[in-house]
Amino acid sequence: MTGGGSESRLRGRQIECETLDRLVAAVQAGNSSVLVLCGEAGIGKTALLEYARSSASSCRTARVAGVESEMELAFGGLHQLCAPFLDHLGHLPGPQRDALGTAFGLSAGPPPDRFLVGLAVLNLLADVAGKGPLVCLVDDAQWLDEVSAQTLAFVARRLLAEPIGLVLAVREPHLEHELTGLPRLDVGRLSDGDARALLDTVILGRLDERVRDRIVAEAQGNPLALLELPKGLTATEPAGALGRPGVRAPVGRIEQSFLRRVRSLPSETQRLLLVAAAEPVGDVTLVTRAAELLEIQWAAAAPAEAAGLITIGARVRFRHPLLRSAAYRVAAPQDRQDVHRALADATDARSDPDRWAWHLANATAGPDETVATELERSADRAQARGGVAAAAAFLERAAELTPDPARRGARALAAARAKYQARRLRRRARTAGRGRARLPRRSPTRPVQPAARSDRVRVQKCRRGPATAAQSREAPGAAGRRAGP
Ligand SMILES: Nc1ncnc2c1ncn2[C@@H]1O[C@H](COP(=O)(O)OP(=O)(O)O)[C@@H](O)[C@H]1O
Ligand SMILES: [Mg+2]
Repeated sequence: MTGGGSESRLRGRQIECETLDRLVAAVQAGNSSVLVLCGEAGIGKTALLEYARSSASSCRTARVAGVESEMELAFGGLHQLCAPFLDHLGHLPGPQRDALGTAFGLSAGPPPDRFLVGLAVLNLLADVAGKGPLVCLVDDAQWLDEVSAQTLAFVARRLLAEPIGLVLAVREPHLEHELTGLPRLDVGRLSDGDARALLDTVILGRLDERVRDRIVAEAQGNPLALLELPKGLTATEPAGALGRPGVRAPVGRIEQSFLRRVRSLPSETQRLLLVAAAEPVGDVTLVTRAAELLEIQWAAAAPAEAAGLITIGARVRFRHPLLRSAAYRVAAPQDRQDVHRALADATDARSDPDRWAWHLANATAGPDETVATELERSADRAQARGGVAAAAAFLERAAELTPDPARRGARALAAARAKYQARRLRRRARTAGRGRARLPRRSPTRPVQPAARSDRVRVQKCRRGPATAAQSREAPGAAGRRAGP
């Protein structure tokens, strides 16, 4: 059991917490440090990021979380991370300032060079860290838009002796991710003892030992499974509610449990959950407005809140992303379309044209030239900001919705071109990450090392990223990286 603050809720995780403490200490001592936390859904990555945040309470922290949705907004994740620091933009060299301004859609200009954008983010963070240690926490990195993930990986590989910590959480099996090659900590199962102790915190009253053993066995040391699987139990049918015994992975069992719990809610509450699930950032104003349009009473949220499935503050937050996807999956296709239509109507098309077009597209079942044209415009905007993967996604959907065959063909071709270009850039970014960058790469000043090794936890270099060779290379000076490529 770990001591102190919010982390006191964590069972086990001594090695992980110590690793994060060392990372924070390194940053406080003026050194940069990077760590990628990898593990399955529910294993406790977000909880560890939360631990890192409390451990870094004397540092400035910045957070961003990727969100699972089909929508890809170029530089959306990076913009979210850098938003609190945009007043530092003026301190950047002109070309970098312009590149970042265009990437974030703050100013117009030619599509920015990715290298310059990466350099700009690096220098922006360094400028912020000049005033005091900075710890950036990136959750669900597997769902960041592609170009944000690439830029963050670029930054992570080039941090120098400045007080910046970067901790990223990524769900397996996304090992072929941009982050491959960075110092990594695999977050594994809880020990049997810790699993039982965690289970005890959610069991009220007595529980048959056999049922307890079975929950522990089926949860396979996954904390979310341990907290979630007993929820279906009743006094009369404790074992039956767990379903048939089997070898199904804990994540599958958690999903089943979430689906069951959503289905057991009143239908009005399910619809409200669907609205929140269909809105990628959980913007409460938008969700409220869309609910009004659908004539869903806001009071319908109460049963979901009471069951601990969502919390409503400035944002609507789901207990876990697996619950968000469950709330979306249980809905009938027509209900999803209606909800996206309401969200489109609730979105300001002028200030947020891409999100508007995306909701509109999801509200549309058959061919519709008006919607396809809007999607094409979104693709153009993404291209102009240098987000080819986002452009490809918009064009692909535009082609699907285009009634005229010739036009459909042209859009499909444009989508294929953008996809090809995105693939090329992805390859280039990965190759650069493997030591052939135009700037010498350097891994964190003091790569995080484990206090001890165990089967469950290990800090290691990702398999496919030969970071070790680059570590021995001398780091460029901060002035050096201000120079162009
Ligand atoms: N070591 C732990 N001890 C107690 N509870 C934990 C632990 N790790 C995670 N949890 C809880 O389990 C649930 C899932 O954890 P979370 O961090 O959201 O998983 P992930 O981000 O890997 O999907 C959360 O309610 C979290 O508070
Ligand atoms: Mg998480």
